Amino acid sequence: MEKGLQIAIDGPAAAGKSTIAKITASKLGYTYIDTGAMYRALTYKALQSHINVNDDDALLKLLNEITIELQPSEDGQIVKVDGEDVTEAIRSQEVTSQVSATAAQPRVREMMADKQRQLANAAGVVMDGRDIGTAVLPNAELKIFMTASVEERASRRYEENMKRGINRSMEELCQDISRRDKADTERAASPLKQAADAIYIDTTSMTIEEVADTIIQFAEKRRSL
Ligand code: DC
Repeated sequence: MEKGLQIAIDGPAAAGKSTIAKITASKLGYTYIDTGAMYRALTYKALQSHINVNDDDALLKLLNEITIELQPSEDGQIVKVDGEDVTEAIRSQEVTSQVSATAAQPRVREMMADKQRQLANAAGVVMDGRDIGTAVLPNAELKIFMTASVEERASRRYEENMKRGINRSMEELCQDISRRDKADTERAASPLKQAADAIYIDTTSMTIEEVADTIIQFAEKRRSL
């Protein structure tokens, strides 16, 4: 039987990675793994347990104690922490504003990367994050680095928020995205960076279908090699 590919999709916040990764995984019959959800789940649990997200010892201890599960679902992925469904809760403004600090801790990243490699051990996977092509799966057969302008990303997030009844101005969203870009690219541990062998896709003026089709074409080529 054909062994599935490992596909790494990296890029800045709100570039549409998870939407595209979900579609790509579903079209290829692969498992979708949203690594950002794992950092969010740890942050959620830390906030609940009154743990400072800058305290790496406490975070590491917490990460050792909790169970984070990613279960495939119709909509992409259900996230559970210690059996509790936190799929929605990890998208809250509070978690979003604190998660960069959690993700900046080198030892937390090492442990997360180990967990992510174990998850990718199964057949075909599409994994999205910031350091998948550079650190988590450096041998992935297909690496994509996906981005879009800050304004376009804010505008997409705005539309998404409207559907979910979340009211935040474009200005706030632009600021939030720029702040996260800065934190993700400037941190010392596995900063957001395009892998040398990644394919760069600027999605600013592309539709979701166009981006997904482009990635699938690359995947088909890799599969036939
Ligand atoms: O993709 P997201 O917005 O759900 O990611 C949440 C945070 O986690 C974001 O600040 C970047 C960080 N992250 C990371 O550092 N490495 C990953 N592989 C995935 C996410």
